[in-house]
Amino acid sequence: MRRIALSIGAVLAVLAAADAGAQEAARGEKTAPHLEEGKEAFKVWCSPCHAPNPRLAGTLALQTKYEGRIPAALEDRTDLTPALVEYFVRNGVAWMAPFRPTELSDAQVAAIGAYLSAPLEERGPYAPLLADEMMALREKEKSR
Ligand code: HEC
Repeated sequence: MRRIALSIGAVLAVLAAADAGAQEAARGEKTAPHLEEGKEAFKVWCSPCHAPNPRLAGTLALQTKYEGRIPAALEDRTDLTPALVEYFVRNGVAWMAPFRPTELSDAQVAAIGAYLSAPLEERGPYAPLLADEMMALREKEKSR
């Protein structure tokens, strides 16, 4: 029984890896200009919990919730609509707190919704993690 569970795990890992590869390929190299604003807001307000990394709170929670039936990272999903994104952002869910209009304006929430529901090829590469940016800056400092 344990062996079966282990091999199912291995198959799922391979499927997940294949999915990630397909995702990278489906994404264009550039973000469509009309999605830049939403992507920027997503980077600042959402990716710290939702970037495609299983250690992050949102990604981990959604992996657990959907058990891999749909992608755990919001930027990989093709089922989200702007209305659904707005609902979760304004109301919160589980321990994701609701965002106030003073933090994110209605226009910014709509822009995030547009980014997360755009065709993958228009989204371009994943929004960079803020921490990654900090690391990159540190590297730059070093090479001075
Ligand atoms: C502090 C971490 C955190 C931040 C920041 C955060 N989220 Fe979440 N989010 C979560 C967690 C945790 C869940 C899953 C809750 C659950 O188990 O249902 C979630 C769930 C969601 C869901 C529901 C998805 C589904 O299918 O159930 C959406 C949509 C969402 N977040 C969008 C956003 C957006 C957009 C932002 C940025 C404006 C954001 N979140 C910021 C932690 C966060």
